Amino acid sequence: MGLFKNYVSQTRKPEGKLGKMMLNGMNSGHAKMADWGLSHLKTVALETIVDLGCGGGRNIGELLKKYPAAKGTAIDYSELSVKTASEYNKDLIAAGRLAIKQGNVSTLELPDNTYDLATAFETIYFWPGLETCFAEVARILKSGGYFMIVNESDGTDPGSLKFEKIIDGMRCYTAEQISGALKAAGFSKVKSDHHSSKPWITVLAKK
Ligand SMILES: C[S@@+](CC[C@H](N)C(=O)[O-])C[C@H]1O[C@@H](n2cnc3c(N)ncnc32)[C@H](O)[C@@H]1O
Repeated sequence: MGLFKNYVSQTRKPEGKLGKMMLNGMNSGHAKMADWGLSHLKTVALETIVDLGCGGGRNIGELLKKYPAAKGTAIDYSELSVKTASEYNKDLIAAGRLAIKQGNVSTLELPDNTYDLATAFETIYFWPGLETCFAEVARILKSGGYFMIVNESDGTDPGSLKFEKIIDGMRCYTAEQISGALKAAGFSKVKSDHHSSKPWITVLAKK
């Protein structure tokens, strides 16, 4: 595999030295888009938040700043992501506000009806079957809980479609495709927003 393909493929499941570089790059490189996504969330009191495909861990840290009374869980199937996110958030973990665990979103080892909010930033491109994974998210959310997806690709932008061809197992989705899979997985209300000048999308669904 060429170095470029090997490096960009680290977005799917970071491993080794290149994966570490990618995770650090994602924490800073995704910050603006993630903050735009976070601006869609109301400032209400939340008790429990789970970030799925947490990567380098910046976003669960920001969520716990936005919701200071909440406790968080972050999940990623990459051992290196779990390690990097744990180092990044060591103070929150020491304070008992955050647990970071290795796991696959298709079969979450998390209890039913537990979370007020689940988030997925830049990760559903790699999930094995949207509907199956979204049904897992619905299972762990409380009734009335929210699931927010934030992607820097709206499923039609040429830049991301180029990466889709390079990275094995990557698939870009439109907001309509995501909304359809959320409804099929049992979510009741689904709303989406497109950034005014970038191909960024946020899809917010209520269980
Ligand atoms: C492009 S990174 C995004 C990381 C982070 N959410 C961010 O916005 O910076 C995608 C992450 O999703 C994780 N991931 C992909 N598929 C997954 C799955 N099926 N279960 C759990 N994690 C997954 C990868 O290991 C990787 O850390």
